[in-house]
Amino acid sequence: MPLVSMRQLLDEAAQGAYGVGAFNVNNMEQIQAIMEAARETKSPAIVQASRGARSYSQDRFLYHLMLAATELYPEIPTVLHLDHGNSVETCKSAIAMGFTSVMMDGSLMPDGKTPSTFEYNVKATREVVETAHSKGITVEGEIGCLGGIEDGHGAGLDALSHLTDPDQAVEFVRQTGVDALAIAIGTSHGAYKFTKKPTGETLKMDRLLEIHRRLPNTHLVMHGSSSVPKELQDIINQYGGKLKPTWGVPIEEIQLGIKNGVRKINVDTDNRLAMTGAIRKVFWEKPEEFDPRSYLKPARDAMKKVVAQRMTQFGQAGHAGDYAPISLEEMAKRYQQHLTA
Ligand code: G3H
Ligand code: 13P
Ligand code: ZN
Repeated sequence: MPLVSMRQLLDEAAQGAYGVGAFNVNNMEQIQAIMEAARETKSPAIVQASRGARSYSQDRFLYHLMLAATELYPEIPTVLHLDHGNSVETCKSAIAMGFTSVMMDGSLMPDGKTPSTFEYNVKATREVVETAHSKGITVEGEIGCLGGIEDGHGAGLDALSHLTDPDQAVEFVRQTGVDALAIAIGTSHGAYKFTKKPTGETLKMDRLLEIHRRLPNTHLVMHGSSSVPKELQDIINQYGGKLKPTWGVPIEEIQLGIKNGVRKINVDTDNRLAMTGAIRKVFWEKPEEFDPRSYLKPARDAMKKVVAQRMTQFGQAGHAGDYAPISLEEMAKRYQQHLTA
């Protein structure tokens, strides 16, 4: 089947009360790992590419690899999503390329670092929604800024000021018409999220519950949701790596989120750790090896294992065959009729 909209997957996930992992890719092996995991667990799949991934791979390569994925895995409803689009132009270029879903991250200015104003965020996101929905493409927005609480991310104000404000979240959804909303509850990107297992002080699940109470029909998105398992850290360090002790987001907290409106869970770091650990192991144990396949295959297998595990833990396993794909044209018509907007 052709690439489908993310809105369809998230609507289905809401009906079935499960979450869908969104996994980042930069190359063929990572796309293959996700598709194999989806086949094994019979899961719908969200494959996402950041701006960095698009420039690393020259995104036309990624797009055609995704077309190959739809040919080779016709039974898997698959979405190609832009992760953290930094401007209206970036989102429009992804739409022109054939992505079926985009994130307009207007929580930050186009430099991807400076927190923006609410007004800027609404204006940029609204513009992307208008373009995307006219083509049946899904839009994820973000309100509040990702970042840890322990590291005093909200420097100058207080350690919590970057988190999503529930009142603003309600206004943002009303004014933009986004399909999915990323919220900030104390998670951050990368391996170093928490210096110890997070508690309610550092991972604000109560904030998520409040936002869901106020926006019961909005699909929520958790970014920075790698669990950074100790086993994966250990493999890297066992074979010459130098990771410092660190904690990620516990699976049970993600599962609590899924019971409370979280439909998309972003995971990149866990897969990076798994692939790097597998490659280090080959280099350490067989220093005479130089055929890239001898380390890329174990790396791909290691990523597939993590993705399949997450698909099972998030509840999407077994749901690939539940529904018939809706074309982007049909989605566009529905937006026009305000059936799903
Ligand atoms: O947004 C964070 C993802 O892990 C993508 O990271 O920007 O290094 O590709 P990246
Ligand atoms: P992790 O770094 O926790 O994997 O988060 C990935 C992410 O949020 C991509 O947008
Ligand atoms: Zn993210």
